[in-house]
Amino acid sequence: MSLSASKGIHRQDFEPLVGGILHVPYGYCYRCPINLTYPSCNIDCIDFIERNIFRFNDPSEFAAIFVEPIQGEGGYVLPPEGWHAKLRALCDQHGILLVADEVQTGMGRTGRFFAMDHFGVEPDITCIAKGIANGLPLGAIVAKAEVMDWEYGSHANTFGGNPVACAAAMETIRVIEEEGLLENAIAMGQRLMLGLGHLAEEHPTIGDVRGLGLMVGAELIEPETGEHAKKLRDLVSDKVYYRGMLILGAGPSTMRFLPPLNVTTHEIDLALDIFAQALHEGEVELGMG
Ligand SMILES: Cc1ncc(COP(=O)(O)O)c(C=O)c1O
Repeated sequence: MSLSASKGIHRQDFEPLVGGILHVPYGYCYRCPINLTYPSCNIDCIDFIERNIFRFNDPSEFAAIFVEPIQGEGGYVLPPEGWHAKLRALCDQHGILLVADEVQTGMGRTGRFFAMDHFGVEPDITCIAKGIANGLPLGAIVAKAEVMDWEYGSHANTFGGNPVACAAAMETIRVIEEEGLLENAIAMGQRLMLGLGHLAEEHPTIGDVRGLGLMVGAELIEPETGEHAKKLRDLVSDKVYYRGMLILGAGPSTMRFLPPLNVTTHEIDLALDIFAQALHEGEVELGMG
């Protein structure tokens, strides 16, 4: 859902896109969708669900709440401390399953095997894909035993359990564990965040730097207004490409940094240099420097 603080929340923002599915605001403190400030807000965006959704729809009608531990395509949004725990408590209160979509955040990306581990929250179901087989097509759903009560053969698909993809996943897990990639993700992520933080001091176009491990985003803004600087983000993405670095945008104006888990200090420093040069050039070209 796209919500900007300046526009506020509209009814259509959480009306169903697909039948039976409602969308609610995320814990996006940098642009709070309900115009509050953490921590004095007391994480009101979770209470928002009670007030605006459960008031009109019986909570017993809801099978599950799906959440990304850190929003990926939404702009690399890291919710504040206590947010996931409050969501878990809401689910428990109403007997609703909590499903963590760890497709982007899982498999060591954030420095823990699953991002939910950072928040001390145990989902009922976890969805995993992308990094699980390091490029070979594979997805997995992991759930608590009490949820996995389907009859044998209830769910099947043509390519499910592909032996080559499964072998790649087993090897990926071994490498992550045995080659210290979780520790590397934490150390290199800190180096990257620190470097981006320093850049943000010199560049008011970097409005926010956030992330965990090697899932790091830098949100680019128009310094005068704080609005999303989409043009600058797209221009800088092109410029880093021509310098040999691949960056894919996330959300309206976030640069996403997601290097391989075995990235080195040299490569992080190089990435920071390339980004700094490209950002400077982009600012000058767009008259923002
Ligand atoms: C967070 C998240 N969940 C789910 C998906 C869909 O994953 P898949 O392509 O494995 O169906 C994506 C794809 O980009 C994603 O980013």
